Amino acid sequence: CPDERTKFIMKNLVTHLHDFVRETSITTEEWMGALLFLTATGKKCTDLRQEFILLSDALGVSTLVDSLNNAKPPGASEATVMGPFFTADALDFQNGESIASEGKGNYMYVSGKVTDTKGNPIPNCVIETWETDGHGKYDNQYEERGGPDCRGRLHTTEDGSYWFRAVVPVSYPIPDDGPVGTFFKTLGRHTYRPAHLHMMLEAPGFEKLITALYWADDPYVTSDAVFGVKNSLIIRTTTETDVAVTRARGFKDAKTHEV
Ligand code: DHB
Ligand code: FE
Repeated sequence: CPDERTKFIMKNLVTHLHDFVRETSITTEEWMGALLFLTATGKKCTDLRQEFILLSDALGVSTLVDSLNNAKPPGASEATVMGPFFTADALDFQNGESIASEGKGNYMYVSGKVTDTKGNPIPNCVIETWETDGHGKYDNQYEERGGPDCRGRLHTTEDGSYWFRAVVPVSYPIPDDGPVGTFFKTLGRHTYRPAHLHMMLEAPGFEKLITALYWADDPYVTSDAVFGVKNSLIIRTTTETDVAVTRARGFKDAKTHEV
């Protein structure tokens, strides 16, 4: 027997599809084109991926579903899409160490404090963080992946603090060689995601938070191809050239840590 929830969802879908057809007066050819596009999207293209998730991302549906399902209480950091590049094999790092091996890009020093919504520090919170290198690629986008890089797992200290070195991530295009790429071109949309640093935080007794930080001065921050940017997740960075300063803040010097 069909369950009520499924019936409810399908009834809504059909109602909206019918309204869409009426409101656009779509032609037979256009509708056939849409069906062919969906067929192509579901087929494995070049590198064995099919693109339905990417299409959902490009339509902003993934972000909407994510936001609805991961609404956070007032005072909490907002969530955003996890994306396809998380891996479970990130290494553990001590605060102050670098999650990126040498030569991966410009150094970036990241620090912060994890607190509950009342401002109380959360010690021993597990932070998983991952990002592109200076070429705008995640380690698992290279054919030869030596091992986890530009990703790591850290723990907050007694006062909720964490600090690590990384590299400045770079904006990069989502795959544009398949049907979804054609869709972007047809609409005159670019396929870039603004540079971002993914962070996933977990502590006993708290809801897990999957989020990311975006750069205010990134050219794509207001036109993210997958609509993952939220105002509260936009940050500004400052430039630090004095190694004595980063050292004093507890960041290890260059080349002291091999991944
Ligand atoms: C998507 C998300 C990402 O974080 C990313 O780096 C690439 C793609 C996505 O939702 O499609
Ligand atoms: Fe990403």
